[in-house]
Amino acid sequence: MPSSLPLEEPVASTSRDSLILNYARIRKESELICAPLETEDYCIQTMPDVSPAKWHLAHTSWFFETFILLPFLKNYHCYRPAYDYLFNSYYLTHGQPFYRPIRGLLSRPTVAEIYQYRAAADEAMVNLITNTEEQYWPEIKALIVLGLNHEQQHQELMLTDLKHIFAQNPLRPRYRELVSSPEQTVADLKWITVDKGVYDIGHNGTGFGYDNEFPLHDVLLQGFALASRPVTNAEYLEFINDGGYRNPALWLSAGWACVQDNAWQAPLYWEQHDGDWWHMTLGGLRPVDPGAPVCHVSQYEAAAYASWAGKRLPTEFEWEVSVAELPVQGNLRNTDYLQPAAVNDGTSLQQCYGDVWEWTASAYAPYPGYRVPAGTVGEYNGKFMSSQAVLRGGSCVTPPDHIRRSYRNFFYPKDRWQFSGIRLAQDLCRY
Ligand SMILES: [Fe+2]
Repeated sequence: MPSSLPLEEPVASTSRDSLILNYARIRKESELICAPLETEDYCIQTMPDVSPAKWHLAHTSWFFETFILLPFLKNYHCYRPAYDYLFNSYYLTHGQPFYRPIRGLLSRPTVAEIYQYRAAADEAMVNLITNTEEQYWPEIKALIVLGLNHEQQHQELMLTDLKHIFAQNPLRPRYRELVSSPEQTVADLKWITVDKGVYDIGHNGTGFGYDNEFPLHDVLLQGFALASRPVTNAEYLEFINDGGYRNPALWLSAGWACVQDNAWQAPLYWEQHDGDWWHMTLGGLRPVDPGAPVCHVSQYEAAAYASWAGKRLPTEFEWEVSVAELPVQGNLRNTDYLQPAAVNDGTSLQQCYGDVWEWTASAYAPYPGYRVPAGTVGEYNGKFMSSQAVLRGGSCVTPPDHIRRSYRNFFYPKDRWQFSGIRLAQDLCRY
């Protein structure tokens, strides 16, 4: 069933008290992510896709203010009318947003003023949750759950953007010291087979889901096999050393144009020193770990690697069916590695959740029967269903309670600044 709002959660399942606790926890997490920053770090924008940390902090508060406080809290007045323009991201039916590529030019409002804005929004939200009349509660609660999931998406983006920001600085600053993941020898890759059949795809209606995960529907899959683990740095290095970036026969046309236009020779953040590969991490410049999943590759690079390996990328449906029995756990943000890490398991499917978002071959498109939710909040997902590809599984900077089997992330095929990697698939049948 398509939802009227971008979530599906039994209204009775969460009390107001527990929602206040969840609200406080998730809002606090955004600020904890910023705790290692100096004031100067909050303001930098290194490319149009990257937003300054302070913009993320303000925009997530704007979301609560715009979609919940202004329409539902009696006598609430807009905190600062100018913020409605500065911190609107892309909601055009609400108003014309400030131009995204120059968010880094906003030295004012100051970081301190943005923290005051957050505190004011939080105080008003607790007031609203506590005092809302029962008849309005289901609608408000649904929007709050959406707002908290939105905040968690921006937490991941903050870490992703901070990595890009620090990587542009020749001083190679560390966001902070990282917990080291254990050194591992990686098991040989195995192939996990799935039989031909008709499978359920999409959100089953239990717990939160974005509108783009609905409706649940049938998909016919041919028999296929999925790689037991993501492609490692060592494996990707073989592709590089074999001239992968110099061989147009391996690349999609648009991908080869990207290679030429941007002089790509390795994943984003990789650099060679005295013959060894290093890469920028949130913990500063580090040697590339051969056993860790390769990260910061575009869908074009993922497809070229698959072509070189004689395999292909999985569809998002193949990925979703393959992980049906797996628990939702892995190297997500709670491990605190903030980097993909090697795992030596080798017995079955591993690292599907966490480490790297896995590029699929699927275009980001509506499921059969999908309807854009009514109102301005309908701009959240549906209008982006063009020219982008789906990624699955979450990454090492995804909050552990913000990923699920049906979760569909989406980026343009050229994008590399997300924690994005590769898992291979192959056909079982010959045509
Ligand atoms: Fe947003």
